[in-house]
Amino acid sequence: DNYVVIMAGGVGTRFWPFSRSTNPKQFHDVLGIGKTMIQQTVERFEGICPKENIYIVTSKEYYDITKQQLPYLSDDQILLEPSRRNTAPCIAYACYKIGSKNPNANIVVAPADHIILKEEEFRKRISIALHFSAKNDVLVTLGINPTRPDTGYGYIQFSESEGDIKRVVTFTEKPNLEWAKKFVESGEFVWNAGIFIWNANAIKKCFEAFLPEMAEAFEEIKADYYTEREAEALNRAYPQCKNISIDNGIMERAENVFVVLSDIGWSDLGTWKSLYEISDKDENENAIDANVMLYDTKNSIIKTPKERLVVVSGLDGYIVAEFDNALMICKKEDEQKVKEFVAAAGAKG
Ligand code: GDD
Ligand code: MG
Repeated sequence: DNYVVIMAGGVGTRFWPFSRSTNPKQFHDVLGIGKTMIQQTVERFEGICPKENIYIVTSKEYYDITKQQLPYLSDDQILLEPSRRNTAPCIAYACYKIGSKNPNANIVVAPADHIILKEEEFRKRISIALHFSAKNDVLVTLGINPTRPDTGYGYIQFSESEGDIKRVVTFTEKPNLEWAKKFVESGEFVWNAGIFIWNANAIKKCFEAFLPEMAEAFEEIKADYYTEREAEALNRAYPQCKNISIDNGIMERAENVFVVLSDIGWSDLGTWKSLYEISDKDENENAIDANVMLYDTKNSIIKTPKERLVVVSGLDGYIVAEFDNALMICKKEDEQKVKEFVAAAGAKG
């Protein structure tokens, strides 16, 4: 049986001040289409599995907003983590829990903050992967043709073969710029889309092999899943978990990894530059909303509240972003510094 797990516990720091720890980007209508990113993500899986088989993993503090945006999910489908430990514990929790209920579960794990323009094609690629993972103990990911040497992604080298499913030769999570350039130039690599497909047993075996303490922590609370003791058991399990991503913890090390090449109009709205890239732009390559008046300005993205009249003059290649009580003005090329700004803004941000 198919299940979908949506990871929605990230803070989206690189998207500050739009994304805040109190209200991260997955709960925003980033594209202005009348739906938030998490609502869009859930709807994208229509036809892949019934709504009862969709699980959201997020922080305790986002329970209310999750419930409000996805009112048709039962409390049992909203998994609340007591603390943030990156994606490996998040995935272990969801996959162990689903596996304890249904050992034959075939699971898609997806982030809540991606844009996928070709939804029909997306569902086709997911179905291909699900057919494969239903019959084999494998880890499958979707691969995206890289367009730039972005250091924010995982890079996958695969072996050329007939058919939709390719064996992965190497998986390198977030390489440095020098390596990212080599990977893209070689033409042998695709980006990891961060969307994974596997059966409950296959991922369990990988946790046991590569992150054994984590496997033990979640195996131990088996009897408590689906009971009122679950939250308490998690409070004991989480502090024992390393803070590590699934990519570093398992994908880079496992040998039974496969990739389905996917042309699905994908983008990870991780940073301001990525939003800039997919936005409509004016004749001077500016991405702006209504109510922004520009003079002698180019290559910039300006995202400010609708009710605010904004006048910008003389900027080239800037991000101007305002949300709630914070305003950031930053060179586009310095966007990796956004994390530092947020750390410095601390309680203020
Ligand atoms: N529940 C929960 N708990 N969710 C989390 C946590 C956590 O502790 N940490 C992150 N997430 C969620 C984020 O909200 C996001 O939806 C997803 O997990 C992925 O985390 P990111 O932090 O956005 O990862 P990334 O973008 O740096 O890297 C991953 O995605 C890239 C593609 O977008 C990797 O898989 C890369 O290899 C990949 O290329
Ligand atoms: Mg991301």
